[in-house]
Amino acid sequence: MSHTADPRLIVALDVPTTDQAWSITQAVGDAVSFYKIGLQLLPVGGMDLCRRLKGAGKDVFLDFKLHDIPATVEKATRSITAGGADLLTVHAEPPVMRAAVAGREGSKLRILGVTVLTSYDDAMLAEMGYAYGARDLVLRRVEQALEAGVDGVVASAHEATEIRQRFGDDFLIVTPGIRPAGADIGDQKRVATPAAALAQGATHLVVGRPVNAAEDPAAAARAIVEEMAGVPA
Ligand code: C5P
Repeated sequence: MSHTADPRLIVALDVPTTDQAWSITQAVGDAVSFYKIGLQLLPVGGMDLCRRLKGAGKDVFLDFKLHDIPATVEKATRSITAGGADLLTVHAEPPVMRAAVAGREGSKLRILGVTVLTSYDDAMLAEMGYAYGARDLVLRRVEQALEAGVDGVVASAHEATEIRQRFGDDFLIVTPGIRPAGADIGDQKRVATPAAALAQGATHLVVGRPVNAAEDPAAAARAIVEEMAGVPA
């Protein structure tokens, strides 16, 4: 079994403290090279954890889903670049995305647009005043993301197929909701196996509980890496 990390695998550090997050990264070792830090860790040392992971040679995805007036998004993005992270999410509204692109100038930080949160369905979008249903809004926002100059989008494996058909291959699609065959799906509604998600057009997979809640996180990560090896980049 290979112990080499696959740079397309991102493990979500969805735990309450940076100590717990660091322990997971130590347990996983060389099997994973890319970690996601989200809003749960941001207020309790998430940016320090980002710097520590960068110091250890890892890649870091900051899933902060920024959403504010352009001046604030631009300044926040600029502040974030100091942590050396590789990926940052913002909501996929054109002024927000353009501000993030301006704020990351001169750094290697790549920006991802979050199109429509997967917790929203058509009825909720209508209640919030949107004229589009989820599918059409996802596609519209991917188009706007590419126009705004971001590097890619977050999308489910199911959405990835249509996004690739319509908009081509020249941008990142980062896909959560990944479950190895036979794994507990938890609260995710639409899941895909690692190999299926890559085949549907994902460039990166975000995996949380199947690794961070596993009895042996290293073995769980290695099994996913093995499955990914069947689908070349
Ligand atoms: O544990 P699990 O593999 O379900 O974790 C998935 C990760 O991806 C979590 O950090 C979750 O917040 C994130 N995510 C998601 N669906 C989205 C966007 C982000 O599950 N649409």
